[in-house]
Amino acid sequence: MTDQNLKILVIGSGGREHTIAKECARSPRVDQVMVTPGNGGINREFVSFTVGVEDNQGIVKLAQDQKIDLVVVGPEVPLCNGLVDALNEQGILAYGPDAAGARLEGSKAYTKDFLAKYSIPTAAYGNFSEVSPALQYLQTCQLPVVVKASGLAAGKGVLICESMEEAQAAVEDMLSGESFGESGKEVVIEEFLDGEEASLHLICSGESYVAMPMSQDHKKVGEGDTGLNTGGMGAYAPTSLVTPEMLSKYEEEIVRPTLAGLKAEGVNFRGTLYIGLMLTETGAKVLEFNVRFGDPETQVILPLLADDLVELLLQSARGERMPDKVAFKNESAMVVVLASKGYPGSYPKGEIITEAPDSIDNAVLIHAGTQEKDGQVVTAGGRVLGAVGIGNTLVEAKEKAYKMAEAVNFESKYFRSDIGHREFSRS
Ligand code: AMP
Ligand code: GLY
Repeated sequence: MTDQNLKILVIGSGGREHTIAKECARSPRVDQVMVTPGNGGINREFVSFTVGVEDNQGIVKLAQDQKIDLVVVGPEVPLCNGLVDALNEQGILAYGPDAAGARLEGSKAYTKDFLAKYSIPTAAYGNFSEVSPALQYLQTCQLPVVVKASGLAAGKGVLICESMEEAQAAVEDMLSGESFGESGKEVVIEEFLDGEEASLHLICSGESYVAMPMSQDHKKVGEGDTGLNTGGMGAYAPTSLVTPEMLSKYEEEIVRPTLAGLKAEGVNFRGTLYIGLMLTETGAKVLEFNVRFGDPETQVILPLLADDLVELLLQSARGERMPDKVAFKNESAMVVVLASKGYPGSYPKGEIITEAPDSIDNAVLIHAGTQEKDGQVVTAGGRVLGAVGIGNTLVEAKEKAYKMAEAVNFESKYFRSDIGHREFSRS
């Protein structure tokens, strides 16, 4: 082993970053994990700093001052802002794609053209930056129709429109800059796809990759997948929805052509490629690419890895060939997100979290929208905490996750009680 006594700096402040920091800290190669800017839980567990995720030069300086061996970038915004490019320019190793690779998440219009060019299955679409051709195209679409802001919109830029009027208004609001600012100045109008969704996470280095267990997110705020879309109210892995045979097919039809296409475009993709798939009657289609780990999917995927995460992150960051095989535990994981009542609309902040056990009986509590204030941990976001259960079966994982969810206490605590319902209805 050449890599020893490593110092790792994790960039971000959510449940994903709390999980990444914990998993990196378990590696025998790692001496210390630091985080910036962190949250109320991360900052109690790890050395933290106040440099923000959008401060490229501040992060470069911090990594130099702290003699960091590897920077792991959590969220998409700094990746799209070229943080990895800035770090690499100074000779600092960083996990995550450069700005060219991050366009796969930063521009849905670019991604749709990329998918079309390389014949990768996706919904029929048109990209528009002018109102009148967009409205004309809408006339040719069937309802419901999907209107998307092309740029980053924190998961909120997708509207599934049931009527033509709604779709026209969405297009006009986006293109005028009214609803999503710069991110909406270009729109994608897309065919509605019907089916179940699943997420495939890959750790990539050029055309080589390792695939993580398939997971399923729960995007709707309400029980039975009703109500508004959120960043994710819970997730579990692995899912039996995708068999090993199906996964091989997706690798053949989607993963390999994507990585080969990126190479042909001159992009040496390193980092996480998160492929959001819709499993339709006519096969799996790409809904979206993200260029970072999902949140809350990370909370259930990384704990299932039996091999050393840090070794994989280093191989990817260095552009080395990824191993042909990685080992996963023969276990299941579930995360139940504890949100503030009202989310994704407005919700209270600053509530004292009176009960927040770090762990109980194979369940851990992951911090997301929390903050330390006057020695207490208070709520500071819509998605506050994640209760993660691990078990030999998903039933066991669920029991543990919900036991933890019940043990936590803050006034506006809200969580869905049916995480995993699709999986349980299959078995
Ligand atoms: P995206 O950010 O593009 O993944 O979209 C967010 C969510 O909107 C997805 O996870 C889907 O639930 C839904 N969605 C996006 N595109 C479509 C589509 N073409 N058909 C049906 N649902 C979609
Ligand atoms: N949970 C969805 C995402 O991270 O994009």
